[in-house]
Amino acid sequence: MDKIKAKLQQIKENNLYRQIKYLNKPQDKYTTINNKKVLLMSSNNYLGICNNEEVKKSAIESINKYGLGSGGSRLTTGSYDLHKKLEEKIAKFKGYEDAIIFNTGYMANIGVISAICDEDYYIFSDELNHASIIDGCRLSKGKTIVYKHNDIKDLTNKINEINPKHGIIVTDSVFSMDGDICKLDEIVKIAKKHNLISIVDDAHATGVIGKTGRGSSEYFNIKPDITIGTLSKAIGSEGGFVCANSDIIDYLINKSRSFIFSTALSPAVIGASIKSFEIIENNPYLVKKLKENVEYLCKGLKNIGFDINRETPIIPILIGDEKKAIKISESLLEEGIHIPAIRYPTVKKGEAILRVTLMATHDFCDIDLVINSIKKLI
Ligand SMILES: Cc1ncc(COP(=O)(O)O)c(C=O)c1O
Repeated sequence: MDKIKAKLQQIKENNLYRQIKYLNKPQDKYTTINNKKVLLMSSNNYLGICNNEEVKKSAIESINKYGLGSGGSRLTTGSYDLHKKLEEKIAKFKGYEDAIIFNTGYMANIGVISAICDEDYYIFSDELNHASIIDGCRLSKGKTIVYKHNDIKDLTNKINEINPKHGIIVTDSVFSMDGDICKLDEIVKIAKKHNLISIVDDAHATGVIGKTGRGSSEYFNIKPDITIGTLSKAIGSEGGFVCANSDIIDYLINKSRSFIFSTALSPAVIGASIKSFEIIENNPYLVKKLKENVEYLCKGLKNIGFDINRETPIIPILIGDEKKAIKISESLLEEGIHIPAIRYPTVKKGEAILRVTLMATHDFCDIDLVINSIKKLI
């Protein structure tokens, strides 16, 4: 107990202490946090779908038809025909033969990597990959080799050095804190050349990049062996998914522990997610508006001295010092704008950022307000 207290104190002294903020309203462009109305510039609800009326109606209809809980894991009693319908929808949306749903994107990443990579596998992993990929590597029996962020030369050198018989290359497509995009075309080619399995995490790419929001495969016009994703961001729901050929999916159904040993998602979430995909397919202006907002914010930030070029709605403003980042974030909140300070261990020590995220529901006036407030405070 004393050790826990001491560690907590250390976290506080290092300006790394975190507290939960409670929202009182849905995550539209305005919400309330701790009962204060704020302009929300920090949600991963990129297309503004999570409070959509049709999506909510679909969740309610699914509850009325199937009940709330799924009552079992996917391999016992937890799979409804609705789960299958969503899996077929995701496979088609992403252009793959097959797909399965996990309960979260986190569980999908740990479940896939640990199921595939046994003792004779090498895992080549980008240094800025999401924590769930890192944890998947730790859970697996494979040997993890971390390559420098987005550095194809370093990746190639490391593969050549080892010349592995079995292995995977795994990367975020859109990096969750930096908002930059991996070099998927080169990665897939290298993987093919060395007979490695290519795995991409499309958590922040699905509904976001590619002309119609289908993610990294559409953006690069190339398909990795496995695309993992989450329903919790642009899809506005929750759950994770894996797209691959039917042999890989069949293997995961049989071997992936986070798929097998957890109660399946509620029909409410599944029904809502199906509707979300339909909305993205039928309303291409959402993806287009999000892109316009990204361009507008990057241009505005450039005008005030921040040279940040991004094609994704994740815009990191580097502050560095943790205390300073917290102070700016708190001042923004006082002005009614929510932009969190992201600190270690989510980013490196001394490299705290303000992580701005855009939604398709923001307009240029909202973005102007943010730019002016940042200019004033930094
Ligand atoms: C890149 C990336 N992968 C996976 C996840 C996990 O997804 P989920 O929130 O559905 O567990 C996240 C974020 O939460 C993420 O940013």
